[in-house]
Amino acid sequence: MKNAPIGVFDSGLGGLTAVRELRNVLPNENIIYFGDTGRVPYGTRSEATIKRYAMQDAKFLLKHNVKMIIAACGTVSSVAVNLKHDLPIPFTGVVSPTCFAAAKATKSKKIGVIGTSATINSHSYRDLIKQFDSEIEVIEQDCPLFVPLVENGFIDKDDMIVRLVIERYMAKIKDAGADTVILGCTHYPIIKDAISSVMGNDITLIDSGKETAIYAAKILKENDLLNDSADNGTSEFYVSDTPEGFETIASVFLGENVSHKVEQINIELY
Ligand code: DGL
Repeated sequence: MKNAPIGVFDSGLGGLTAVRELRNVLPNENIIYFGDTGRVPYGTRSEATIKRYAMQDAKFLLKHNVKMIIAACGTVSSVAVNLKHDLPIPFTGVVSPTCFAAAKATKSKKIGVIGTSATINSHSYRDLIKQFDSEIEVIEQDCPLFVPLVENGFIDKDDMIVRLVIERYMAKIKDAGADTVILGCTHYPIIKDAISSVMGNDITLIDSGKETAIYAAKILKENDLLNDSADNGTSEFYVSDTPEGFETIASVFLGENVSHKVEQINIELY
């Protein structure tokens, strides 16, 4: 079991932000990634649909005998909150590790949270931050155009379209004087440089993919499930639509060529 892969899923490219960090913290772990590119975005869908998709994604990973599942998706973590109870192996979403890091980071006690509409409407991040510290003010903003921008390769910080969209969405949080902003959707760290350049260097951006990868390593350790092989881990990528666009952006983001390592599957079979 120790040498079984870790399963990571998201609606598309976003969960790669967790994969990149997993590689840093646990370089000898094997990873199986599923990006539901045929049904992205999740964040504008109903609760029932998001829960059904999340269960199918998890079942696909279970078929690969993974030892742990990471829902590297803010939307699934916020909406399909009971998923962990339906799984026979350790599981984490992104909300609690991210809130913990943000509550620790803020000095002004003002935290901005950005995410998909489903995530923001669930108030998942706000409610958990308030449990950590009820005095923290949380300013929430949904950013429905960010996921389509990222999935279509609009990720350059100097691209005017990217900057204009960010400026529009971030205005409320900037005006409120938040010193910490949670990137509550795992797609957003892919445009972190652009968000940072609009917000300024004084603002701490909390990367949900990164915090979750660090937390997942802790869970594996606690469950005595860390891979004991000395070899570098492998990764396999699966998507529910054609691999081409995914391969290009994934290769740039992960800093390695993943072409020919991405396979298309039919998620409706799960
Ligand atoms: N990366 C997903 C998240 O963290 C994107 C959701 C979507 O597909 O809208 O919320």
